[in-house]
This record gives sequence, C-alpha cells and structure tokens, in this order.
Amino acid sequence: MKTPVSSSSPAASSSLLLLLRKARLSPYYIFTLFAFVVFITVLYFEDFGGIFNRLDDSDQPIQRTPPAKKRVELPFSVGQTAEGCDVFNGKWVWDKENRPLYEESECPYIQPQLTCQEHGRPEKNYQFWRWQPHGCSLPSFNASLLLETLRGKRMMFVGDSLNRGQYVSMVCLLHRLILQEAKSMETNGSLTIFRAKDYNATIEFYWAPFLLESNSDDAVIHRISDRIVRRGSINKHGRHWKGADILVFNSYLWWMATGVKFKILQGSFKDEVKDIVELSTEDAYRMAMKSMLRWVKGNMDPKKTRVFFTGMSPSHQISKEWGGEANGNCYNQTTIIQDPLYWGSDSRKSIMQVIGQVFSESNFPITFLNITQLSNYRKDAHTSIYKKQWSPLTPQQIANPVSYADCIHWCLPGLQDTWNELLFAKLFYP
Ligand SMILES: *[C@@H]1O[C@H](CO)[C@@H](O)[C@H](O)[C@H]1NC(C)=O
Ligand SMILES: *[C@@H]1O[C@H](CO)[C@@H](O)[C@H](O)[C@H]1NC(C)=O
Ligand SMILES: *[C@@H]1O[C@H](CO)[C@@H](O)[C@H](O)[C@H]1NC(C)=O
Ligand SMILES: *[C@@H]1O[C@H](CO)[C@@H](O)[C@H](O)[C@H]1NC(C)=O
Ligand SMILES: *[C@@H]1O[C@H](CO)[C@@H](O)[C@H](O)[C@H]1NC(C)=O
Repeated sequence: MKTPVSSSSPAASSSLLLLLRKARLSPYYIFTLFAFVVFITVLYFEDFGGIFNRLDDSDQPIQRTPPAKKRVELPFSVGQTAEGCDVFNGKWVWDKENRPLYEESECPYIQPQLTCQEHGRPEKNYQFWRWQPHGCSLPSFNASLLLETLRGKRMMFVGDSLNRGQYVSMVCLLHRLILQEAKSMETNGSLTIFRAKDYNATIEFYWAPFLLESNSDDAVIHRISDRIVRRGSINKHGRHWKGADILVFNSYLWWMATGVKFKILQGSFKDEVKDIVELSTEDAYRMAMKSMLRWVKGNMDPKKTRVFFTGMSPSHQISKEWGGEANGNCYNQTTIIQDPLYWGSDSRKSIMQVIGQVFSESNFPITFLNITQLSNYRKDAHTSIYKKQWSPLTPQQIANPVSYADCIHWCLPGLQDTWNELLFAKLFYP
C-alpha cells in the first residue's frame, strides 16, 4: 500500500527551524552583519550596477499600473467580489458553528507534522476562527463547484513546506465528495499527486522551495546551511509545471535566515570552479520573482488558466513582538493577536515591497493572495510542540518546550483552510 503522506517536508522543516534559531541566536550574527555591510559597500561602489543588470535580464520595460484598472474577464470566474472590497483586509470572528470546515481525523492526507490533535494539543480554539473581510463577505467554499471546475484539469501547488500545507488543506476540503476507491495520493520525488478518478482531475504539489534550481531541491535530503540558487534556472523545475490549469506558487522562508547575504550561482552546479555572486536577500528574491513571472508569461495562457502567488507566511518565534513574556514564542499561545496594526518582524516589509513592485510591473494577470497580515494575528495556529518529531527529544528539550516549538508551520484544520477560502474567492469571484 502506498503511503498517502510524503516523507519530504519534515527534514526540510526541522532543519529550517534549526537554521532560523541559529540565525537569531548566533553571537557571530553581528559580526557577519558588519562584514556584510563592508562587503556590500565595496561591491556597490565597484560593480553593483553591473551585477544587478546581469541578474535582472527581464525584457519587459517598466510599466506603471494604470490608475483605473478595468476589470478583465478571468477564466473560471462565476461572479465578482463587491467593487473595492479587499478580501485580505478584515478581522477574525469566532464561529464555532461553521468552523472547522473538516475534522482532523476525517482527512487521512494530513502529514503527521500538522496533526496537532493527534499529537496532544489540549484545546481546539485555533479551529474556530472565520475570516471576515471588512468590505464584504467571503463566498462559502463550495467543494463541488471546485471539483466540477477541475474536471479534466490539473491544479498544481509549487513551493515549500508551507505551500504543501495549503495543498493538503485543499485536498482535505475536497476529498469528502469523492468515494474511497476513486481517489489516491502518491508521491514520487518532488511531485505529489492527488487523483480524483471520476473527475479525471489531479491536485498536485511540486517541491521547489526557491522555484529556481538550488542545492536544496532534493525532496528528501537538503543542503540547508549553505544555500545556493542558480540564476536563470526556472525551466529546471518549470518543465514539470507545464500543462497545469491552475498554478499556486509560494516562496519566501527559504530566502530568509541566511543572515544578510545570499549566494547566486551564475553557471552550472557541475562547474568545477563555481561563479558565485552574493546579493542581498531582497535582490535575490526579486530575481526569482522575475524569473517566475517570465516563466508564467511564456508557458501559461491567460485566457484559459489562472496563476496565484501566496504571500509570506509569518512565523511567531519572538513573543516580545506582540508584547508577550520575555523568552516565549508560539508555544502555549491559544488566543489571537487583537491589535489590528500588529505586523511582526520587519524583514517581511522589505520583501512585501519587492513583491508589490515586481507584480505591479507584470502584465500577466497573476493573483496575489495577500495572506501575511491576516496570518500575523494567528500566533495560536502553529503546530508548536504538537507534531511528529523527527528525532527523539532530549531531556533538556522536554524540560523546556519553548526550545523545540515549531512556530512556522500551521495545524490542520486551521489557518491554511482560510487561505484556500481566499483562493476560492479569487478564483471564482475575482
Ligand atoms: C455548489 O456548486 C454547485 C455547482 O457545481 C451548485 O449546484 C450548488 O448549488 C452550489 N452550492 C451552494 C451551497 O452554493
Ligand atoms: C483527462 O485530463 C487530461 C488533462 O489533465 C486530459 O489531457 C485528458 O484528455 C482527459 N481525459 C479524459 C478521458 O477526459
Ligand atoms: C518516478 O518518476 C520517475 C521520473 O521522474 C520515473 O522514472 C519513475 O518511473 C517514477 N516512479 C513511479 C513509481 O511512478
Ligand atoms: C500557559 O499559559 C497560561 C496563561 O495563558 C499559564 O497560566 C500557564 O502557566 C502556561 N503554561 C505553560 C506550561 O507555560
Ligand atoms: C498586503 O497587505 C498589506 C496589509 O494587509 C499591505 O500593507 C501590503 O501592501 C499588501 N501587499 C501587496 C503586495 O499588495
């Protein structure tokens, strides 16, 4: 029997966690920062413009977004969201009657890193919140409408372990309508495929944490500590995305946590002497976003397909950021953050600016799922210590749960179901 659960993300997530902690705690961080400032200063005066031009090989002229964007008819749309309503701007409402949208025990596809109840979480409060936009209401998630729409089609999620969480949430939201013998889920390398046989539909996940080729691409064994991403390599993975009717990308966390600079390979991973330049995280990220958009432009038909990009998933590693106790994190958090202006750590802002810039210059209708702010409020929704651990815990860890709480990933059912409700809203009511 094939196991429905992929073995790939765990290694990734746990090493990512380690790395993030290291980045935060390392006494060498300040030194590295200083060294980087010196480095970038030298680089800037010597060759920054040159490198930047080579990396940014976009053929698109910069375009300003027209002031009054006229609504274009997007594929799959069945209606429209109220004019001027930003569905990502709103508040969480306690709704025990209508949430959760499914039970953890009733969806066999959730990987054991996300089944919080099974791993002893003592309460379920995180399951009962519903997102309420300020300007309108979200359409209710209609699984049969989505399945009918996917008949004879492929929906594909591409990205990292957070996107895998959203993918699994989507499968959980749909699978109840399909009989046991008419569905399956299999993983082969980077690709996981859920099949709804009677619908001739697939919902797929493709592991590519940077979208571009990197030395972290093996779905099981990753080189995390010294990450290198290869410029101009989008087709390496992109050839596996061709033919998808609905694509949902994400990529963010793996670009973080390197301190301040990022290694970009100019040639090939097979080169004996590697030609590597170091960029700020923002410039490296911008390069990847532009590559992704170019791939989309060259391979997707805006009249028949839809492309989404899910924004940055926030983590809750430092409780002081929301006015909590000194050394805490998401561990033991069971309430949401009430301050509507809460944002969290600042690095998210500069990446958000990059996203805003790159997307506004694109003339392909890519739909941005701006889930960062609404997820920022949800310090209660992480898996914390209630997940399958990848190595046995040490007595020191057990004595101090804060030390091993996962404040990056999210329990299912939970927050990521809302991301899919928003995806549903933007797909059918753009
Ligand atoms: C869900 O969508 C189907 C069409 O596929 C429609 O027949 C049904 O009425 C919808 N259900 C609700 C509650 O809107
Ligand atoms: C099933 O879907 C694929 C696309 O995913 C399509 O190419 C194929 O023609 C479909 N087959 C049938 C029998 O509808
Ligand atoms: C897995 O994918 C590879 C190609 O990427 C293919 O050669 C192999 O047959 C696949 N294995 C299974 C079990 O489907
Ligand atoms: C968890 O938080 C509550 C307050 O919300 C506190 O009373 C309790 O001691 C905390 N438990 C642990 C194990 O930190
Ligand atoms: C996403 O939403 C936040 C506020 O919720 C806003 O500050 C930001 O500009 C938005 N980002 C984009 C790219 O639209």
